[in-house]
Amino acid sequence: MSSSRPAAVVVLAAGEGTRMKSATPKVLHDICGRSLVGHVLAAASELAPESLIVVVGHAREKVVGHLAEIDPDVRTAVQAEQNGTGHAVRMALEELGGDVDGTVVVVCGDTPLLTGETLLTLASAHSADGNAVTVLTAEVPDATGYGRIVRDGAGGAVTAIVEHKDASDSQRAIREINSGVFAFDGRLLADALGKVRTDNSQGEEYLTDVLGILREAGHRVGAAVAADHREIAGINNRVQLAEARRILNDRLLTRAMLAGVSVLDPATTWVDVTVTFEQDAIVHPGTQLQGATHLAEGAEVGPNCRLKDTRVGAGARVDNTVADTAEVGPQAKVGPFAYLRPGTRIGLKAKVGTYVETKNATIGEGTKIPHLSYVGDATIGEYSNIGAASVFVNYDGQDKHHTTIGSHCRTGSDNMFVAPVTIGDGAYTAAGSVITKDVPPGSLAVARGQQRNIEGWVARKRPGSAAAKAAETASREPEGEG
Ligand code: UD1
Ligand code: CA
Repeated sequence: MSSSRPAAVVVLAAGEGTRMKSATPKVLHDICGRSLVGHVLAAASELAPESLIVVVGHAREKVVGHLAEIDPDVRTAVQAEQNGTGHAVRMALEELGGDVDGTVVVVCGDTPLLTGETLLTLASAHSADGNAVTVLTAEVPDATGYGRIVRDGAGGAVTAIVEHKDASDSQRAIREINSGVFAFDGRLLADALGKVRTDNSQGEEYLTDVLGILREAGHRVGAAVAADHREIAGINNRVQLAEARRILNDRLLTRAMLAGVSVLDPATTWVDVTVTFEQDAIVHPGTQLQGATHLAEGAEVGPNCRLKDTRVGAGARVDNTVADTAEVGPQAKVGPFAYLRPGTRIGLKAKVGTYVETKNATIGEGTKIPHLSYVGDATIGEYSNIGAASVFVNYDGQDKHHTTIGSHCRTGSDNMFVAPVTIGDGAYTAAGSVITKDVPPGSLAVARGQQRNIEGWVARKRPGSAAAKAAETASREPEGEG
């Protein structure tokens, strides 16, 4: 489709977005892990334009900073005062050096549901028909506020776009609206923008007036009707933001399901655009998958998981877990109620169980940490078992230190591993130990106070108490029965 490859895509994002009622500029609000303008840029990139330029104005420092972060190749044009969409495009063309030879596509920065596919359809219709301008339109249930597409009789050629505020009653009855997306011949656009006037209800330079100007000059004006009107919806407030998020999320889940992923409850499953799946992955209700999270073949996640930038291996099971920047090996088991923090790497068939928190920890193949433990800054070998309620004491109040546990170790319950410390392969540690010294391979380490029983203490110190009576009864009962 190189013939319809545009010279430039111009993204309009200078407006304030007052109705968002937010300290964050409208186009920087997020849905499905990407800003509104980020979604528009992703769709625009599918056209492979020679230049991609965003018109910024309101809160431009923030917007420019964000753009530099997400795509350093994107150019920006400043529109210091928001004098209308025509004026905004004029600023972009000036930044691009005046006349642009070739197709110029204009889109708005607040339409995150617009797809690259629709833009490609528009661009190829534009060049195939040899139009001076092609507008993307849609039939909407409620056209209030939109510019109306005026045609030369029903189904006839587009003659003009009339803004809602400037429209007559009969024009307001039209349900075909201007999406705000256009393909233009660059030279003719620059020329026509010079002729746009401001004698309208808002005193602005309307980009939409370019259509009438070009038509009157005898050029071809065309329209492409969007298949789904929801795709062109602009976001103006947080209700529409939530609706768009819902639609995009459904789109992502539908694509995943058709590719062989089971999503048990799409209504309570939320995914980012960057999440990837392999066939036969299963997602249980109440799950959020964010960033670069990947579920490998047959991985089963949820219910109630929030996984960010986390890779879940083939056939692994992750239940009621929060994870950030973690790697779960194939067939490993995590949760319920685990917290995997950055740098966690869980090996093949390993287990991180209930109320276990891990951070910067490598857990070898087949190793189990089943219950109530904190494992921070640690390396554990293969097929070891860490007893319940163990703490890897990694912080001395100033610095973090590392604990190394070998393979085939059996550490007792309620152990403290005071780092830096190393437990050799095949070693055991006794329950309740505070391990401060290295344990050689194959040894049993015992590091706890000796038990001492003071007989008759309750009868002497708590005479007449329920405890004393129970003890007395017990002492009278013959042993070895029951
Ligand atoms: C515009 C169209 C209308 C269309 C609607 C689709 C015009 C005159 N009207 O109306 O036909 O149905 O979009 O949503 O074009 N912007 C700037 N600088 C400005 C003004 C706007 O960058 O000076 C940007 C805004 O940030 C926004 C986009 O252009 O991304 C559209 O502006 P907005 O004020 O929302 O236009 P509408 O009145 O909705
Ligand atoms: Ca708008």
